Amino acid sequence: MVSEYEIKKQICEIGKRIYDRGMVASNDGNISVKLSDNEFLCTPTGVSKGFMTPEYICKVDAEGKVIQANPGFRPSSEIKMHMRVYKNRPDVQSVVHAHPMYTTAFAIAGIPLTQPIMPEAVIALGCVPIAEYGTPSTDEIPDAVEKYLPYFDAVLLENHGALAFSDSLLNAYHKMESVEFYAKLLYLSGQLGGAKELSKSQVERLFEIRRAFGLPGKHPANLCPNAKAGLPSCHSCKGTCGATLNADGGASDDLVAQITKKVMEQLGK
Ligand code: 13P
Repeated sequence: MVSEYEIKKQICEIGKRIYDRGMVASNDGNISVKLSDNEFLCTPTGVSKGFMTPEYICKVDAEGKVIQANPGFRPSSEIKMHMRVYKNRPDVQSVVHAHPMYTTAFAIAGIPLTQPIMPEAVIALGCVPIAEYGTPSTDEIPDAVEKYLPYFDAVLLENHGALAFSDSLLNAYHKMESVEFYAKLLYLSGQLGGAKELSKSQVERLFEIRRAFGLPGKHPANLCPNAKAGLPSCHSCKGTCGATLNADGGASDDLVAQITKKVMEQLGK
């Protein structure tokens, strides 16, 4: 079993990576790791996450209240946002919040990442919705993010940045990296005249691969509300993917309908 000190070191290492890769500026971003149902480690507020040592890391309970923090350190001002993820997603062991350049540009422009442009992004993320703007440190961001938690492992935060979460610290970090890579490719291909999207059947084949691999986490391929309603899901939902049902559903193609039916059967619906 990995010691608490070792996990603190890993948080510092990931903090350095998000800083060194320009995914945060200055003192931005925050990271947390679940130790048990009522014990969580998190980065302190107001420090550069690129220069932390294990002594910086705070321990909080499920309410975000301090269990242990060294003098001069207080838990992240965004701890409520992290706790809301853990509360709604028992499978999540780590949450990473950052402001990667391209991802944040999309979040500021109000454009969710929905275009299916490359297999890895489709398999890892499906699509990435935008949670409505909220004032940092208040309940507004957790409230805005909550409805997306059953369906996604990453969410853009409107006019702010992004949130990624997974079954380990490394995987949560990788999720954030995947979001940024996807956003960057979408932006750059847009500059080159526009991305050539994968077809619906190509996307569905990738969704099938994800299901066959039994990849952990939530993904619109499995649980998109549109799929629940028997409608085409995710990349067919015209950028409204998220917890809001897509009333018109788009043109149903046979393959999508068949696969959706199969998923419903697997889910026992
Ligand atoms: P903290 O330093 O309080 O974690 O806040 C950084 C941040 O990015 C807020 O959005």
